[in-house]
Amino acid sequence: MLNINLKGKRAFIAGVADDQGYGWAIAKTLYEAGAEVIIGTWTPLLKIFKTSLENGKFEASRATPSGKMLEFAAIYPLDATFETPDDVPEMIRENKRYKDVEGYTITEVAEKVKNDFGTIDIFIHSLANGPEVQKPLLEVSRQGYLAAVSSSSYSFISLLQHFGPLMKEGGSALNLSYLAADQVIPGYGGGMSSSKAALESDTKTLAWEAGRKWGFRVNCLSAGPYRSRAAKAIGFIDHMIEYSKENAPLQKEITGAEIGNAAAFLSSDLASAITGTILFVDNGMNIMGVAMQKSLKDIQSQ
Ligand SMILES: NC(=O)c1ccc[n+]([C@@H]2O[C@H](COP(=O)([O-])OP(=O)(O)OC[C@H]3O[C@@H](n4cnc5c(N)ncnc54)[C@H](O)[C@@H]3O)[C@@H](O)[C@H]2O)c1
Repeated sequence: MLNINLKGKRAFIAGVADDQGYGWAIAKTLYEAGAEVIIGTWTPLLKIFKTSLENGKFEASRATPSGKMLEFAAIYPLDATFETPDDVPEMIRENKRYKDVEGYTITEVAEKVKNDFGTIDIFIHSLANGPEVQKPLLEVSRQGYLAAVSSSSYSFISLLQHFGPLMKEGGSALNLSYLAADQVIPGYGGGMSSSKAALESDTKTLAWEAGRKWGFRVNCLSAGPYRSRAAKAIGFIDHMIEYSKENAPLQKEITGAEIGNAAAFLSSDLASAITGTILFVDNGMNIMGVAMQKSLKDIQSQ
């Protein structure tokens, strides 16, 4: 039987701050497959996340299908919009959720991981942020647009620049995108669609550069809609899930485990010749060119 075996591999997942998102789901699957899992948690959410974990709030969702309970080898604070402490503006440094936390910029986290663990095999970028996500592109400010691209796309480039030297040859880096990168999804605003387009394009260039420089792979997983904290903040996630169920080839809701499984495959040696790919894990929604009309019977019964 062919199983995905990640025993002996070490993963760093950037973007886990609760048990509701794709980062957590991927952590669970990688852990289930035998990997050691380290996470980077957004600085302002670090305290609440650690307290919730310690108080058992995530107990039910820590259980993997085999019954193993998800454990993190380490949890580091991370704000992926800053490279060095000098980049952090005074207002943020002094913010009550930042001021007691140390070493959360990208260079510092990479240094800590290097000192504490030496190397990593798997890097996952599961983070995004668009402060004006609810504004259509025609109304987004320059600041809002650049903030979205900075948090959601440049963060991947910067993290690879600094984690690249720690990555083992043959390793795998993966980011998460969304269909809005190249299809119009009204409501996915604030420059988030642009951020995903940049992320997908960068995946290819980084696959070339990181492949030649360090010998590891870089891929992108374009995921279907999922009720994470970030997705709920956008405001139309239930509609997107319903729309997908009605129009995609596979009429079901996507699960975190399905994204986790695809991420585990791409992170494993089974995918050793796959790099620079955008893999859709979305029940096939991306291939559809027209929406299905509801049948007259369905409309009449509403
Ligand atoms: N949920 C969906 O429907 C969906 C669909 C396709 C792609 N995605 C992508 O999946 C990834 C994970 O998102 P999710 O929907 O699971 O939501 P999520 O809320 O679980 O994950 C987003 C994470 O980003 C973190 N974050 C935000 N700004 C940060 C920063 N500056 N530094 C470090 N961390 C920061 C948040 O704390 C959060 O943990 C994102 O890239 C998202 O765009 C989500």
